Amino acid sequence: MDTPQMGIDARLAGRMSMAEQHEYLRSKVSRRRAVLGGLTAAGTVAASGLLGGTAHAAAPSPSLLTRPATDHGVSGALVAPFGRHLQFGSDPKTQFTISWQVPLAVRKPFVRIGLQPWSLSHKIDAEVRELHTPQLLNSKLPPVDQYYLHARLGGLRPGTTYYYGVGHDGFDPADSAAFATIGSFTTAPAHSERFTFTAFGDQGVSYHALANDALILGRNPAFHLHAGDICYADPDGSGQASDSADYDARTWDQFLAQTESVAARVPWMVTTGNHDMEAWYSPNGYGGQQARWTLPGDGFASRTQPGAYSFVYGNTAVVALDANDVSYEIPANYGLSGGGQTAWLDRTLAAYRKQRGIDFLVVFFHHCAYSTTNSHASDGGVQAEWVPVFEKYQVDLVINGHNHVYERTDAIRGGQVSHQVAIGDTTRPATDGTVYITAGGAGRSLYNFPAPDSYEGHENRVDTVTTWHSAKGGGKVTDLVHWSRVRYTGYSFISVDVEPARAGRESTLTVSAIAETGERIDHFTVARRAN
Ligand SMILES: [Fe+2]
Ligand SMILES: [Fe+2]
Repeated sequence: MDTPQMGIDARLAGRMSMAEQHEYLRSKVSRRRAVLGGLTAAGTVAASGLLGGTAHAAAPSPSLLTRPATDHGVSGALVAPFGRHLQFGSDPKTQFTISWQVPLAVRKPFVRIGLQPWSLSHKIDAEVRELHTPQLLNSKLPPVDQYYLHARLGGLRPGTTYYYGVGHDGFDPADSAAFATIGSFTTAPAHSERFTFTAFGDQGVSYHALANDALILGRNPAFHLHAGDICYADPDGSGQASDSADYDARTWDQFLAQTESVAARVPWMVTTGNHDMEAWYSPNGYGGQQARWTLPGDGFASRTQPGAYSFVYGNTAVVALDANDVSYEIPANYGLSGGGQTAWLDRTLAAYRKQRGIDFLVVFFHHCAYSTTNSHASDGGVQAEWVPVFEKYQVDLVINGHNHVYERTDAIRGGQVSHQVAIGDTTRPATDGTVYITAGGAGRSLYNFPAPDSYEGHENRVDTVTTWHSAKGGGKVTDLVHWSRVRYTGYSFISVDVEPARAGRESTLTVSAIAETGERIDHFTVARRAN
């Protein structure tokens, strides 16, 4: 066994790429521990260990702490699934993935679905993805085994509500004892109609996170966008090898249990932030994400960058990006795609802009194009690589996290205010430029601004804010900016009502920012002639 080091040596104090950190961690975890732990590559089916094995006795109630499976048997009837989370497939009209977790290894996991809760006539086998986390370098935390299950559903009917239950040998949601665990979801409509979606980033596990989740559920969104920094199993998020000392995989169990109340009904579409690079699992740090989530598979590189994908819902195309690939501020994965993701973004937006029936292009990712907080402010890499592409295709709304606040810009073009958008105003991206939202107040500790808060009912106009953006290779470049229109230091999320054009009028996105108290702190409208 390795002797724990007291600290990372000087060589490691410098920047290592995620791939170098992965290599380093793997070399430092003893071979003995890895073998004893039944090391399994992330994202692979561990059928022999899970389907053929048994697990040690546990309390019959669902445990939020994952325990390693042993040879001590426990009835499948006593292992309760938890952490259900839905995701769209490539086509939200016909494809969904149901994912969940079990605290112990189970046999033959499956999903039942049907058009009535008492008639779950279709049974679909689930894929098992086992994730083993050994005791990492400088960590005092125990090894952890986690069991994630995924069932991909295809051939669904558009605009239809399905009921589903998850189970395994000994636990059948069709049985009366497990009937209360049945959930539901609704596929995207075949034609454009009114819908609502919600979004935030930087959630973690907290009472504030729960409060936001409850408000989101009450809005009955068609889907939710999570702009990265999902659960903070890596609480440091510095993108450096020293992060492993505090990495706690069990935080994911808490997170998925917390999120289930919404995500069991609402597709929970995540992308990857700096805290979501987990060096142990794979060279790019996303092996854990690939075990825990099944995001739409037709993205730029769903196998290597699960946070980059797109889907269409009604008249709106949504594009998720992996901003770790372009971030100057936290460069552990800088250049991961070698420019490929940006080229994919260009192609994708070009195609959606031409596609009949698609009015709005919404892009979400983690690091901010435009924010003024004292913590991270704006990322120069995002500004250099992606903002020109957003402007080329007149993107209708950009949603970010990373800064733990709510902030909203005027319409911007070329880094300057192209159209002032006061609270309650309407803006037209086809001529006015793009509004950028930082919605990073989902649940983690809050940041602060260099200027006073200014939000609905508490407006405190400041025309110039002194802030900065991160420079390539490190450091900060000071900016005097005029685009910081709304600032709110509090827990919050956004809710967007999408209204397709009717009777020759424009299609609209009505964006509301909602505090965890339920109070509205901002609203404005994005309008575009229907395509
Ligand atoms: Fe964060
Ligand atoms: Fe972040």
